Amino acid sequence: LFRVRTIQSPQRPQSTMSAVEESKRAAAKVAVGNHYPKDARWVGIGSGTTIVYVVEAIKALGVDTSATKYVPTGYQSKQLIISAGLTAVEFDTMPLGTVLDVAFDGADEVDEDLNCIKGGGACLFQEKIVAMQAKEFICVADHRKLQPRLLTNWKAIPIEVAPIAAHRVISKLKELGSIDPTIRASASAKEGPLKTDQGFFIIDAPFKSMLIKADIEAGQDGNGKDGVWAVDVLARKIKEIVGVLEVGIFHGQT
Ligand code: 5RP
Repeated sequence: LFRVRTIQSPQRPQSTMSAVEESKRAAAKVAVGNHYPKDARWVGIGSGTTIVYVVEAIKALGVDTSATKYVPTGYQSKQLIISAGLTAVEFDTMPLGTVLDVAFDGADEVDEDLNCIKGGGACLFQEKIVAMQAKEFICVADHRKLQPRLLTNWKAIPIEVAPIAAHRVISKLKELGSIDPTIRASASAKEGPLKTDQGFFIIDAPFKSMLIKADIEAGQDGNGKDGVWAVDVLARKIKEIVGVLEVGIFHGQT
């Protein structure tokens, strides 16, 4: 079981562009200041825009990083590590049994139980496998990301799927109550569907906002009645669909 900690930015500035960036930077500074082990040997580095500030904060610590290996969650993440002058080691080349001291990453939305939606940047399988291999997973989220329930502001669950199975997965997602799941397009429409670092597709699957533990304890049904799910139940149901590599719901799991 990995421990999820979500670091919220300490201030709630207006959502102007620069205020949001300052908020990400502030959250990253707190996360690294509180959770980066000074003698870290293996550190996971996630993907997205917030993680840039995490790397900045690691550099600003001024600790000796010469013997530390940084494990990326995708191409962008690897470039970030290298351009910061740190040593990148791909997940599949780590010595067998290596456990990361800590892994940092961003999130698209976080609920009150600290479950996260991830995959907005399409790296979710590698993000999850790196998180799973860490003693501690630190999710750094600015003030916009925390919501009472998942799928409040962020509207769809990213799911990484084998291209050959994409249409079958879409019909199974509809059976679970997803409204209009779609294959994510690449930035240039001419290139067709976006491909992940694994060569897979991403399906964005909208669902109704998901229940948290308090809702279940209060007697609500989280088993998909009327398309309403508890986070862990829906994550498991999606993962069971043949053709799904990984689902962008991060909750306490092994
Ligand atoms: C990429 C991710 C990112 O961590 C998530 O999208 C957050 O990104 P940002 O820090 O840019 O808001 O899951 O797949």
